[in-house]
Amino acid sequence: MTDKNKDTEQLQFWRGEFGNVYIGRNSANAENLRARVAMWADIMRTVSGAMPKSILEVGSNIGNNLRALHTMSAAKMFALEPNAQARDILLQDKVVEPECALEGTAAGIPLADKSVEMAFTCGVLIHIHPDNLLPSCHEIHRVSSKYIACVEYFSDKPEMIPYRGYNDRLFKRDFGGFWMDNFPDLRVLGTGFLWKRATGLDNLTWWMFEKR
Ligand SMILES: C[S@@+](CC[C@H](N)C(=O)[O-])C[C@H]1O[C@@H](n2cnc3c(N)ncnc32)[C@H](O)[C@@H]1O
Repeated sequence: MTDKNKDTEQLQFWRGEFGNVYIGRNSANAENLRARVAMWADIMRTVSGAMPKSILEVGSNIGNNLRALHTMSAAKMFALEPNAQARDILLQDKVVEPECALEGTAAGIPLADKSVEMAFTCGVLIHIHPDNLLPSCHEIHRVSSKYIACVEYFSDKPEMIPYRGYNDRLFKRDFGGFWMDNFPDLRVLGTGFLWKRATGLDNLTWWMFEKR
């Protein structure tokens, strides 16, 4: 079992200087927002009924996805983020209400069971050590009452890829398959690939699931 109060080396990396420098490289500029709006329009198109009324991003950083979702959804937005500087920017820019900017990690989400209608990650499961992946997904599954979205790097086989010169910081796999194999109550509503040359996003694969 993961000790929810103990930081892994991967988490220390994101809470510290590497995480702070990442913020500067990934600012909320118009080009980035436009690419994310197009991505979320595709993902949310898979929802046939009412749109979710509450959405949690796990590992939101400064909220570039939530900013995009605000343009198409009136949902109450929640952001969970371990890096303190990123949480400060979320609040300064009013991406979420103060009580909705949560300090925490995917393996320990400070929300009640089924307290949001949709929970998602984008470029976050890839940074969780494989030993901690299932407990983290259990937490995401626990807090979502209906939808789970996952936007990550895909690989047929689990593999570690050096990330900006560091080992053990990026782990690719078939995350959609991982969700379906471990959570049989999930039904896939849609999946897609965000080809870098056409979207400006980084060859990301997305899945949208509904809890049955
Ligand atoms: C590559 S960034 C992606 C940020 C954002 N999701 C996006 O798409 O712009 C990864 C983010 O996940 C956060 N993070 C890393 N490990 C995490 C964990 N175990 N639980 C929650 N967030 C985590 C980092 O602090 C960072 O903000």
